[in-house]
Amino acid sequence: MALDRSNPVPNDLSAFWMPFTANRQFKKTPRMFVSADGMYYKTADGRQVLDGTAGLWCCNAGHNRPRIVEAIRQQAGELDYAPAFQMGHPKAFELATRLRDMAPEPMEHVFFTNSGSESVETALKIAIAYQRAIGQGTRTRLIGRERGYHGVNFGGISVGGIVNNRKFFGSLLTGVDHLPHTHLPEKNAFTRGQPEHGADLADELERIVALHGPETVAAVIVEPMAGSTGVLMPPKGYLQRLREITRKHGILLIFDEVITGFGRLGSSFAAEHFDVMPDMITCAKGLTNGVIPMGAVLATREIHDAFMHGPEEAIELFHGYTYSGNPIASAAGLATLETYREEGLFERAAELAPYWEDAVHSLRDCPHVIDIRNMGLIAGIELEPIAGAPTKRAFSAFLQAYEKDVLIRTTGDIIALSPPLIIEKHHIDTLFGTLRDILKGLD
Ligand SMILES: Cc1ncc(COP(=O)(O)O)c(C=O)c1O
Repeated sequence: MALDRSNPVPNDLSAFWMPFTANRQFKKTPRMFVSADGMYYKTADGRQVLDGTAGLWCCNAGHNRPRIVEAIRQQAGELDYAPAFQMGHPKAFELATRLRDMAPEPMEHVFFTNSGSESVETALKIAIAYQRAIGQGTRTRLIGRERGYHGVNFGGISVGGIVNNRKFFGSLLTGVDHLPHTHLPEKNAFTRGQPEHGADLADELERIVALHGPETVAAVIVEPMAGSTGVLMPPKGYLQRLREITRKHGILLIFDEVITGFGRLGSSFAAEHFDVMPDMITCAKGLTNGVIPMGAVLATREIHDAFMHGPEEAIELFHGYTYSGNPIASAAGLATLETYREEGLFERAAELAPYWEDAVHSLRDCPHVIDIRNMGLIAGIELEPIAGAPTKRAFSAFLQAYEKDVLIRTTGDIIALSPPLIIEKHHIDTLFGTLRDILKGLD
């Protein structure tokens, strides 16, 4: 199929089965981006669309960043691929060291993957294998949380708690239980930052652990701030309590930081922001500015060293991917971390957060708005669903925003915003001004 450059929309859209998309609706009225620069996408019909979502929570440094583009070009011409098993190349080691240096102190080792989903699978497998390695082989259970999103692979959807992501796919992993979610709009609606109520929900972990016996539980996994389920902030004291209970019972705590990693909350990782140290951190997305697929699991020395036994020529962990630490992804990762550092983007996010907070809460008086939540450069605006037609109102806001040259994201009836960290105040004004207009006119 030839592409007509004057009209860059292909005339056959049928072959591509699009992920997490209403395929039939999309193919009737396609929304196509053909290029991107800075804070803007360009559509096939030539419009500039303001990126209110950093792509899919991933382009934290904005688009078309010269250092990243050049690093990829150079690396492709220098070393395109090196086998990931039993061979190495310098940039993967360099990137692991850079990550260790920017991560909270106890995170000393890095296992590379290609996505958030793979990072989650990797962390869950390491957790179970670690317990076995330290003589706690009965600890195989995994505990997630209702409304949690941990990607789409079987481990991730098993510990995850988004009903539609689970119910079509059979019986999932066995030996999994879930904490209650922390969304309490009746008590916490319109909170700025962390809500007051809900820390006690962490105590449910004591009940779950007692039910199964602590000696059967390997790990608890949560998003420190739950993004994809609609931007849910951890109640004050909640994460600390989870840490206390997991430590008391010899259970590993995994923070899934696929969204919160790399500056989203104004710090390198949410673990640092909330001052709660897990045993492992999963990340992806912002690691390469979303430009090339890459993810990583950060683990403490204690976890890593538990595997470093036996004959030196024996493989210690039977896990890995063909593209773990891929040279081009590693080069993109190094250039991305350098861009964040050079431009002080995490600090910039922290500085802009109060302006962002005021702007999003200014929508409180708009029709249909039943809750607003924010932290760092992230916000959730929850709309009252249309009776009998959940998701329709928010999806309609999404379509209208696109027509008005603003990209937002919706999940259920919640609008989720997470712009590139290079956003400026005038962009914030445009984003929320456009949203106000849309909300006023929504059915
Ligand atoms: C917390 C969390 N974990 C895992 C994932 C899955 O990442 P990916 O889509 O790269 O597999 C996501 C994606 O949004 C996420 O937000």
